Amino acid sequence: MAANQQQQLAHDNDSWKKQLNLPTKDTRPQTEDVTATKGNEFEDYFLKRELLMGIFEAGFERPSPIQEESIPIALAGRDILARAKNGTGKTAAFLIPTLEKVNVKKNTVQALLLVPTRELALQTAQVCKTLGKHMGVQVMVTTGGTTLKDDIMRLSETVHIIVGTPGRILDLAGKGVANFSACTTFVMDEADKLLSPEFTPIVEQLLTYFPKERQVMLYSATFPMIVKTFKDKHMVKPYEINLMDELTLRGVTQYYAFVEERQKVHCLNTLFSKLQINQSIIFCNSTNRVELLAKKITELGYSCFYSHAKMLQSHRNRVFHDFRNGVCRNLVCSDLLTRGIDIQAVNVVINFDFPKNAETYLHRIGRSGRFGHLGLAINLITYEDRFNLYKIEQELGTEIQAIPPVIDTRLYVAPSSLDDQQQRQQIDHQEQQRLIHQKQQLQQQMHQQHQPQYQQQMMPQQHYPQQQIHPNHQQIQQHHQQRPQQYQRR
Ligand SMILES: Nc1ncnc2c1ncn2[C@@H]1O[C@H](COP(=O)(O)OP(=O)(O)OP(=O)(O)O)[C@@H](O)[C@H]1O
Ligand SMILES: [Mg+2]
Repeated sequence: MAANQQQQLAHDNDSWKKQLNLPTKDTRPQTEDVTATKGNEFEDYFLKRELLMGIFEAGFERPSPIQEESIPIALAGRDILARAKNGTGKTAAFLIPTLEKVNVKKNTVQALLLVPTRELALQTAQVCKTLGKHMGVQVMVTTGGTTLKDDIMRLSETVHIIVGTPGRILDLAGKGVANFSACTTFVMDEADKLLSPEFTPIVEQLLTYFPKERQVMLYSATFPMIVKTFKDKHMVKPYEINLMDELTLRGVTQYYAFVEERQKVHCLNTLFSKLQINQSIIFCNSTNRVELLAKKITELGYSCFYSHAKMLQSHRNRVFHDFRNGVCRNLVCSDLLTRGIDIQAVNVVINFDFPKNAETYLHRIGRSGRFGHLGLAINLITYEDRFNLYKIEQELGTEIQAIPPVIDTRLYVAPSSLDDQQQRQQIDHQEQQRLIHQKQQLQQQMHQQHQPQYQQQMMPQQHYPQQQIHPNHQQIQQHHQQRPQQYQRR
């Protein structure tokens, strides 16, 4: 082929890129959790052009580490069990190959994406629609708490991909409304949650409606041992991906504040006045406490929404939608919103009640610091929580430090939020890396400087000597590098 012909072809091949409607570039610094890639490009995977268009228009420039590992294997049709940190792009890691394999000319359900909560189903379906925007793919979301009749009507039309929660999907399959006999892709996001005792029987029953030749893909940031039984029983030689040599996110700084139960609200008030919160999520351990706290926060004069599983679905949806759109700065919730929820504006997570186990802790604090960005996690710790704090630190191989009198905003506020638009545009890659490095140094310095003067300014009163918080502080250091059995690389 003549050189000018080749040039013309390359030009034609690339001309579609010029038509793309790209979003404003996100210039916030990012950690290695998402930047340590092999250097793949989305175009390396020979995806349909319409899908590539959706990917680029979603603002994704190149695949994240989990996407690099997962996309080619999933495209090859193999079962996958993948583990990667919170907010590093697992959703697109399974959505991109799923969308690539869908044949939009066929009027059948070809993929099921199973998630544990209704809010996550709505979010995942939305991402699926965004990525598949130019493909003409029909995505349906279905969860409990909505009218079954609407689902039946919807399923009488074309549906290629269903996103939903287990109970409703099983209901639809059992009634013969949803036909999964040609559905060859079965994805479980937050798979360990879906394989907890409350869900496992439903998931197993649901699988009986699927063809024998199917691809099963499991994704989560946490994979305790319970997953093994399912793996052995329902997966064929799964390709295992584990990108979690360390467990916590590099961009999230974690602190604890030691308080009495009755001081918690006062403490929260102090935090509100001192922190630079872009948006925050505040976790409580019961629905009752969610409502009580939300009331208190409002009385203190701060704006806040709340959400928990006992609320009406329509109300839950409204809260989720409005909080995501920045209508309100703070959201108080139960563990309903612990997993998968992706709101990039959240830079602070507060455990008003400390969680019971390491998995919940990890997922909760992972609501900030999305896609390698900076975030802050603050834990209010009572005397009763102290052993649990120690246990979780051990299990996660992380050290949660005592809250210093002043928290440097550079640890959790992106420079773009501090500076004006022009400065934001000037931050180049080197600058970003310098900022991340600076953050790590700051964390170390603050720990060394402030540890003895335990939370003087931030906290109302100090009632217990610091040593009581950890049964053995030195032991924590020793355990720092160790991994408990359940988190070991498989
Ligand atoms: N390749 C990419 N380039 C830029 N941004 C991306 C890319 N992939 C994902 N993101 C963004 O990263 C954020 C986090 O992605 P996602 O919700 O998939 O994380 P996750 O790994 O599923 O986290 P979690 O464990 O909390 O569920 C989203 O806002 C998403 O739009
Ligand atoms: Mg997710």
